[in-house]
Amino acid sequence: MKISVVGCGYLGAVHAACMAELGHEVIGVDVDERKIAALQAGTAPFYEPGLPELLARVSATGRLTFSTDMAAAAGADAHFICVGTPQTHGEFRADLTYVDAATRQLAPFLRPGDVVAGKSTVPVGTAERLAATLEATGATVVWNPEFLREGFAVHDTLHPDRLVYGLPTDEDGVTTPAGEKAKAVLDEVYAAPLAAGTPLVVTDRATAQLVKVAANSFLATKISFINAMAELCEATGADVTRLADAIGFDPRIGRKFLNAGLGFGGGCLPKDIRAFMARAGELGVSDALGFLQEIDAINMRRRVRMVDLAREVCHGSIVGRRVAVLGAAFKPDSDDVRDSPALSVAAQMQLQGAHVTVTDPQAIANARAAWPDLRFAETALEAARGADVVLLATEWPEYRELDPDRLGAVVAAKAMLDGRNVLDPARWRSAGWTYRALGRP
Ligand code: UGA
Repeated sequence: MKISVVGCGYLGAVHAACMAELGHEVIGVDVDERKIAALQAGTAPFYEPGLPELLARVSATGRLTFSTDMAAAAGADAHFICVGTPQTHGEFRADLTYVDAATRQLAPFLRPGDVVAGKSTVPVGTAERLAATLEATGATVVWNPEFLREGFAVHDTLHPDRLVYGLPTDEDGVTTPAGEKAKAVLDEVYAAPLAAGTPLVVTDRATAQLVKVAANSFLATKISFINAMAELCEATGADVTRLADAIGFDPRIGRKFLNAGLGFGGGCLPKDIRAFMARAGELGVSDALGFLQEIDAINMRRRVRMVDLAREVCHGSIVGRRVAVLGAAFKPDSDDVRDSPALSVAAQMQLQGAHVTVTDPQAIANARAAWPDLRFAETALEAARGADVVLLATEWPEYRELDPDRLGAVVAAKAMLDGRNVLDPARWRSAGWTYRALGRP
């Protein structure tokens, strides 16, 4: 199939490369010249494990090309909208500027019967609005949400947990003939994962748009639930990691996404739950999502609590104290610093008078661009030199495996704050460290 992918960020670049890997002829379009130049050269414009190798492989086949010119999308049978939907400044709702611009620019190149498949996370109702905008082109708008995780994006795209098609329906809820044709196109696009047995949910557009925000809201809820339990553990001397293990053995609960610590960040979960609340308000059902306000509040409280813990181990004040922050990315295996809990805590401590040095295996350049006032170091040992307190904020494997004795030899005071509950307290304490964590005695 001929496929266009509009928007080549974390989602679109991976989708484009994976579709080419599946055998399709793919054109990726983005307005960012730097990004397109990198992709044209067969290199990844951001850190994502496995993507450089995949790009090199599929670029060599000639099936994957990139352009800053939307005209290059002409002639594709399916056009995937993969642009960002960030939080609007000063508001909860999603900023749809990029989705609207992408659709408007694509419109002149659409032919009747072309499929426009939205992948961006959008407020429910957006697909229907875009369909009305594109009606004159004769193209069919469907919603095909994406569930990939950064760090596992290539695997998740080639081997998804599930595929969801949101097709246009008539007043009786029956898929329209154009919707049936669009389904056949998507079936061909995803022939390989479908043949491998990937579950497929075919539904209407509203449900498909809701599926995505519902999934992310559920994940955010799981994380904030365990972080609320961490608050209880802190009040009682209990251990939230053992609590999570114990409740996680119940298959109805499950252990995944019950890791307590600094909470969730990134370009998806935080802004998605807020945009969902904003949309519910517009629909007159804000009570239904009132609980997400609490999920957000629990999440943000963890960051405040971490600064308080730092103050505690520094005997009441962090003013003038040297703090090493291990991790800047919002999670390991990513260079993404959007709403990163690690950087948020680092910046707070700096604002409150500490001398903060941040390190990260991949995200220093992005972190420096976002917070130029912070100091950065290349390695954990360098960041920790002379530190009064060390905070493990992103659980990169190399930080989990740190040697307490080697680190202990360079710090001014052996105080470890484990913001992700990934270190062995006994090992660090026996090496002479003060070990503190969120939700652990
Ligand atoms: C999330 C979803 O997991 C994907 O399914 C979805 O496709 C994606 O958003 C999206 O909307 O595009 P991602 O943002 O890559 O993926 O990151 P997650 O793995 O979900 O982690 C989000 C945050 O939660 C991270 O800051 C992580 O450190 C934190 N987290 C995760 C916890 O604090 N505890 C956990 O147990 C799990």
